[in-house]
Amino acid sequence: MTKRNRPWGYQAPVDAQPADWELHPDTVAVRGGLARSGFGETGEALYLTSGFTYDSAEQAASAFADETDHFLYSRFDNPTVAMFERRLAEIEGAEACKATASGMAAMFASVACLVSAGDRVVASMAMFSSCYVVLTEILPKWGVETVLVEGNDEAEWAKALEGGAKVVFIESPSNPLMEIVDIRMVSELAHKVGATVIVDNVMASPVLQSPLKLGADVIMYSATKHIDGQGRVLGGAVLGSNEYINEHLKPFIRHTGPSMSAFNAWVLLKSLETMTMRVERMSSNALAIAEALEKHPKVAGVKYPFLKSHKSYEIAKKQMKGGGSMVAITFDATAEQTFKFMNALQVIDISNNLGDSKSLATHPATTTHKRLGPEVRAKAGITDGTVRLSVGLENVDDLLKDLHQALDAAF
Ligand SMILES: Cc1ncc(COP(=O)(O)O)c(C=O)c1O
Repeated sequence: MTKRNRPWGYQAPVDAQPADWELHPDTVAVRGGLARSGFGETGEALYLTSGFTYDSAEQAASAFADETDHFLYSRFDNPTVAMFERRLAEIEGAEACKATASGMAAMFASVACLVSAGDRVVASMAMFSSCYVVLTEILPKWGVETVLVEGNDEAEWAKALEGGAKVVFIESPSNPLMEIVDIRMVSELAHKVGATVIVDNVMASPVLQSPLKLGADVIMYSATKHIDGQGRVLGGAVLGSNEYINEHLKPFIRHTGPSMSAFNAWVLLKSLETMTMRVERMSSNALAIAEALEKHPKVAGVKYPFLKSHKSYEIAKKQMKGGGSMVAITFDATAEQTFKFMNALQVIDISNNLGDSKSLATHPATTTHKRLGPEVRAKAGITDGTVRLSVGLENVDDLLKDLHQALDAAF
């Protein structure tokens, strides 16, 4: 027996048979991208391996010369990760996808693989604080300028883009205040100056918004949020054209190393199977909560894209299939009073995560958005009385009861 012997008879993985009609995205989420091994397993195989072997030195040389298709090393590609990438790409209708270790790895790589010193990035102002730090602190250190605009102001976008841009970065809806950017309008303006439009689609998830169909070029995800959605693993993904993924993003990731682990990809593959059901339920729970809290006398304001009172309601209705799982509540209150409300919650947990099956309450000013500083927070409308509610899968009556009793206890 040589070391190359494969005792059970090696068979190359085969693509699961596609149907001869176009499948719905929720069917693709269960079956897309599956490459069965020779054993014909029903569940996706977990290839927990860092490296791969070759039948000969010549085969290794030809694989490294890109002459044959062969997995080389799991920092570059891995069969389980590839199944996750193919499934997500099929759901989005994207030509290609690259998975990453976290959402921030996806965000950073998606922009950094395109820009050089002297380039400009134009971005909507309301965004997750780590994305803000990447664009306003890290990239400028390397000579990349970031210009921030009010996301729903067409004139501001047009003016900022007069100076040209390599990348336009949009987060819509934004974390935590659910600001909406008109993705089609901004993409059209950006393309006139040759910019690549990247959308952080974390808050909407692949279920509720399809930025590529709205004219954007690239989508990035924190798979940690609705894609896993069960509080287990970190992950990220970037989707776009073959040219963008293969020529720009893959070489950047291959050499800098923010790759997704095979184990996390395996967990996320199973999560994709239930993602549509989970996100639809979370979104309908969130709408019911937003509607109820908006009428509550102790609540000063509620921001939720599918409330008629939302300033971008019409755009949200046009580009999203549901309002999402996040509700931003504002009290006329100090941080101490707001903490009292959060501490009184009995079902809903206090956590800085979001998009989980368990409902979670966050105080952005002292946690997720602390890093922005008081001035930027004030400009963004994040006050000491703001609570971000990530609505989960529980029975909505229990969630409403919990919120009402906490309001009574705190104010
Ligand atoms: C809108 C948005 N983008 C990106 C990220 C980063 O994702 P991760 O925590 O997986 O790195 C987050 C995380 O909260 C987010 O809310």
